[in-house]
Amino acid sequence: MLFTAPFVKLSLINLSLSHFLNTQEARQRGDSSSSSLIFKTSMAGTGIFTDILDGDVYKYYSDGEWKTSSSGKSVAIINPATRKTQYKVQACTQEEVNKVMEMAKSAQKSWAKTPLWKRAELLHKAAAILKDNKAPIAESLVKEIAKPAKDSVTEVVRSGDLISYCAEEGVRILGEGKFLLSDSFPGNERTKYCLTSKIPLGVVLAIPPFNYPVNLAVSKIAPALIAGNSLVLKPPTQGAVSCLHMVHCFHLAGFPKGLISCITGKGSEIGDFLTMHPAVNCISFTGGDTGISISKKAGMIPLQMELGGKDACIVLEDADLDLVASNIIKGGFSYSGQRCTAVKVVLVIKSVADELVEKVKAKVAKLTVGPPEENCDITAVVSESSANFIEGLVMDAKDKGATFCQEYKREGNLIWPLLLDNVRPDMRIAWEEPFGPVLPVLRINSVEEGINHCNASNFGLQGCVFTKDINKAILISDAMETGTVQINSAPARGPDHFPFQGLKDSGIGSQGVTNSINLMTKLKTTVINLPTPSYSMG
Ligand code: G3H
Repeated sequence: MLFTAPFVKLSLINLSLSHFLNTQEARQRGDSSSSSLIFKTSMAGTGIFTDILDGDVYKYYSDGEWKTSSSGKSVAIINPATRKTQYKVQACTQEEVNKVMEMAKSAQKSWAKTPLWKRAELLHKAAAILKDNKAPIAESLVKEIAKPAKDSVTEVVRSGDLISYCAEEGVRILGEGKFLLSDSFPGNERTKYCLTSKIPLGVVLAIPPFNYPVNLAVSKIAPALIAGNSLVLKPPTQGAVSCLHMVHCFHLAGFPKGLISCITGKGSEIGDFLTMHPAVNCISFTGGDTGISISKKAGMIPLQMELGGKDACIVLEDADLDLVASNIIKGGFSYSGQRCTAVKVVLVIKSVADELVEKVKAKVAKLTVGPPEENCDITAVVSESSANFIEGLVMDAKDKGATFCQEYKREGNLIWPLLLDNVRPDMRIAWEEPFGPVLPVLRINSVEEGINHCNASNFGLQGCVFTKDINKAILISDAMETGTVQINSAPARGPDHFPFQGLKDSGIGSQGVTNSINLMTKLKTTVINLPTPSYSMG
């Protein structure tokens, strides 16, 4: 059932992924009754993906092969929209983790000796296979994380582009080093030539989150591989099947055995075992505050962590309110607010608050609510516990007197978009991250009040400011304690080569293609010592 109320026309022109793909195919066959063909020609786990399935349980990937776990157990993946088991994956054991690590260590040694151009060539191949198979991968995203169909396709295509960009960037930045001369430092003559290059770390453990299981996996896999590392992937349970399909694309590209592995299972059984494994030389994690405990236990290895945010949107009196309203909708409600970079609190100067709230309300009314297959704007949140948490924040705001711009409505894991006006700092939603389609508005008396609210948060991922005065915008950006500030646009990680980092509890290290490659390498220097100073002349 699709809930569109007054804007049926809009939702009708929003073609679903299946409808879109099948209509294309039907057109080619001259068949006009295509609606019954949903996903038939591009099912997950079929065609080139049959090897990754054992009965109704997806296999894990180890030593270049798809395997069934010796545990004999599986983990169920619940479809957020239907709340029924959609898929099952292997519940891998600690022994299987040990085996994967052993192979990752040995495969990495020869991979580090593989020429850069060849590593890049394989990555380009994987990117092409991934993009060619976007339909079944997008289908699993729709089914296991309820991402709208069109956004699911975008995630896969964006991931292929990221891999290709990474291959090219790697060839450029890893193919260059530094050459230093000793006589630039006082007390030295030119007797030492110092050569620096970037070398791999070893085994990289990648743990992506449920909301971008493919894109935030390849954003870790591609830099790790181009830099000469091996890679062990632990997908999120919700999103695991999409990850397994994506890994199969790397398998088909022909990467060496053991270089890439994908271990599925319960965090309670293999989570700590993986993150504290002595073979791991780097952890790249995106997710919630589990990352804080991982970082405390990880030991002396480089960490790349992105742990969420409470991205503030500061709106000044002179802002273009139509632009602000569109960005609040895009920033606050795309993928039902389940993005770490979502706008999570609006801080608007009182004099323009009424007008802005009216504009946003009008746009909220146009959002379609329903199944991801039908490409609705708002779909079920990832789990019942997540929906319960969001509801807790809403009820707290209700008890403390927030103004509800729409009626609060929930069916199962589906929560209707909700704008909460007149939120005050004593309400939980002013500080906590709902990760759902619920957005608080705080009316502020001054820009300073907005900056103070933003900076009082434990998080510091991104923020945004809307004003026509670029000088003010720069001052505000400098004052905001966040990894990125967007001027006149909603927060966003992409394009994927931009640096992406969080301050405070939002993370450690910086992402983006170039920064990830650098983070997954270490510097090695060789110094040539000459018996006498030598100066190049002429
Ligand atoms: O959820 C966290 C992601 O890094 C956000 O990525 O800004 O592309 O939605 P995005």
